[in-house]
Amino acid sequence: IEELKGGPDEGLSWVGKGLTVRGWVRTCRVQSSVTFIEVNDGSCLSNMQCVMTSDVEGYDQIESGAVTTGASVLIDGTVVPSQGAKQKIELKVTQLVVIGRSDPTSYPIQKKRVTREFLRSIAHLRPRTNTFSAVTRVRNALAYATHKFFQENGFVWVSSPIITASDCEGAGEQFCVTTMIQNDNFTVSKIPATKDGKIDWSQDFFGKPAFLTVSGQLNGETYACALSDIYTFGPTFRAENSNTSRHLAEFWMIEPELAFADLNDDMACATAYLQYVVKYVLENCKEDMEFFNTWIEKGIINRLNDVVEKSFVQLSYSDAIDLLIKSKKKFEFPVKWGLDLQSEHERYITEQAFGGSPVIIRDYPKEIKAFYMRQNDDAKTVAAMDLLVPRVGELIGGSQREERLDYLEARLEELNLNKEIYWWYLDLRRFGSVPHAGFGLGFERLVQFATGIDNIRDVIPFPRTPGSADF
Ligand code: 4AD
Ligand code: MG
Repeated sequence: IEELKGGPDEGLSWVGKGLTVRGWVRTCRVQSSVTFIEVNDGSCLSNMQCVMTSDVEGYDQIESGAVTTGASVLIDGTVVPSQGAKQKIELKVTQLVVIGRSDPTSYPIQKKRVTREFLRSIAHLRPRTNTFSAVTRVRNALAYATHKFFQENGFVWVSSPIITASDCEGAGEQFCVTTMIQNDNFTVSKIPATKDGKIDWSQDFFGKPAFLTVSGQLNGETYACALSDIYTFGPTFRAENSNTSRHLAEFWMIEPELAFADLNDDMACATAYLQYVVKYVLENCKEDMEFFNTWIEKGIINRLNDVVEKSFVQLSYSDAIDLLIKSKKKFEFPVKWGLDLQSEHERYITEQAFGGSPVIIRDYPKEIKAFYMRQNDDAKTVAAMDLLVPRVGELIGGSQREERLDYLEARLEELNLNKEIYWWYLDLRRFGSVPHAGFGLGFERLVQFATGIDNIRDVIPFPRTPGSADF
């Protein structure tokens, strides 16, 4: 349907041609002389209006009530100009086959508008709705554009492991990997690993501790220090028990790593990348973006056009703190040099202080950032950057990495981190170390930003949040 209706003439050049449509019935209206069946095949928001008279093969299916909302059908016909105002073409049906019936009394997606909360409880059927099919296509386009951007710029895609022993962010928010076996009566149980007579689940990956990765960065760095620019793009996991509209326990992250690069190169890459993918969806997902502009967030297309065309605001963490203090706004959380910015602060900065532009904040206090970030000459801050956008808040977190062995070892010691676990990471600083930098972009937050969808649970097919791992 997209191929026909998405074309410049909205399908008129197909008039007179034969066509087979396979899809799901959205509505079926039986009138005295003709029946109108609206079919959607998921390729776009538009349905194909199929017009059927009672002499056509398969009309008995209409009479028997088999053509209901949600049923899957195969319809052959001829493309004809449409009488209706809503579309240029329609299909004059020559044959109708119902492939899979859909009981109208229990099919949960009826024409009336349903809430997104309700749709989360039927995550297996929600892709049949306009909102979720549009989100899914835009998500796909963003993923494609991501690969396109990095490939066109000479980056190599590296697959980082999902099971790992190291905690990249050092925040202790990892899920532990444990082994399961089936015993004689086919119930599932864990293999107990014992330590001092107690079960020690942290030893459970074949006798060693292992976790689900929070970030592919450290592994990515090893490849950047050999192949030059690389990127990862895969699922990552955080065991933070936060129930917000921007946090998932399982989310996808894009992590480029640039060799022979500093923080300025990193920020330039993040800016170019974000502008590229936003531009890509504006140009290639027009119908879906119009839908979001009308139904989800009014004006989003104009705002995204600005993102593509205007340069981003940059300021230091210290200046951001000053700005927040001078704003005299009553924030719930304290504003003080040395404390992390909370989402209310980030919102103020992006939405009010700089009128909706993306903002990059750099040079954060080292105490609130991860161990691997490069120390600045002031010995108080690190070469870190966060890119904030309106509504979503932190979209990107990145930094220049500490490439000096002595500094890195000292920092690990300071933070009481186990140097043995990071032996391979330290090796990169022993053998041909180079300045390098990178960032991580939360892919679901990017989809939120591009579509205007306010809850992160609604931009990933099967959201994983505390208490929800069905489907
Ligand atoms: O700021 P974070 O924790 O940075 C890192 O993981 C670095 N290792 C990245 C790097 O330099 N290679 O996470 C990066 C981004 C955040 O800015 C946010 O967009 C997203 O990942 N993110 C989440 N998205 C959804 N749910 C969560 N729980 C997220 N935690 C982080
Ligand atoms: Mg961060």
